[in-house]
Amino acid sequence: MRIAVGADHGGYPLNERVIEELRSAGHEVIDFGTHDGAIPDDYPDYAKLVGEAVQSGAAQIGVLVCGSGVGAAVAANKLRGVRAALCGDTYSAHQSREHDDCNVLCLGARVVGVELALEILRSFVGAKFTGEERHRRRLGKVAAMER
Ligand code: RB5
Repeated sequence: MRIAVGADHGGYPLNERVIEELRSAGHEVIDFGTHDGAIPDDYPDYAKLVGEAVQSGAAQIGVLVCGSGVGAAVAANKLRGVRAALCGDTYSAHQSREHDDCNVLCLGARVVGVELALEILRSFVGAKFTGEERHRRRLGKVAAMER
């Protein structure tokens, strides 16, 4: 799968582990940085890059990492067609794909430990939208709100 990844300074260095994990699982990573956690930067810039990659189809899904994951999720969800899920557990991670067809995972590097974050990542990436009618109906209502 082609996966766009971005993190602000608060998301570094968890983001480096995310990239390593995705590549070792055979995914193609579009890496938007940052690669320097010592330089303060702004999470919306990364949310925009990753979200636009998903919007355009350059990436099938995206992963954003910031300190809490909250800012990244708020920003990414401003982009039409982007459904970003902030996850701190594996159940939410796979259900966000299966039921809500989420296409961006947000992680909080200051909240979840590295090993849990990687399990959440695997859970999200490995899950698929079920396509069931009830979920499509609900997503249709979300899309209507977006318009
Ligand atoms: C940066 O200090 C921090 O505010 C940011 O990474 C994120 O946690 C925002 O939600």
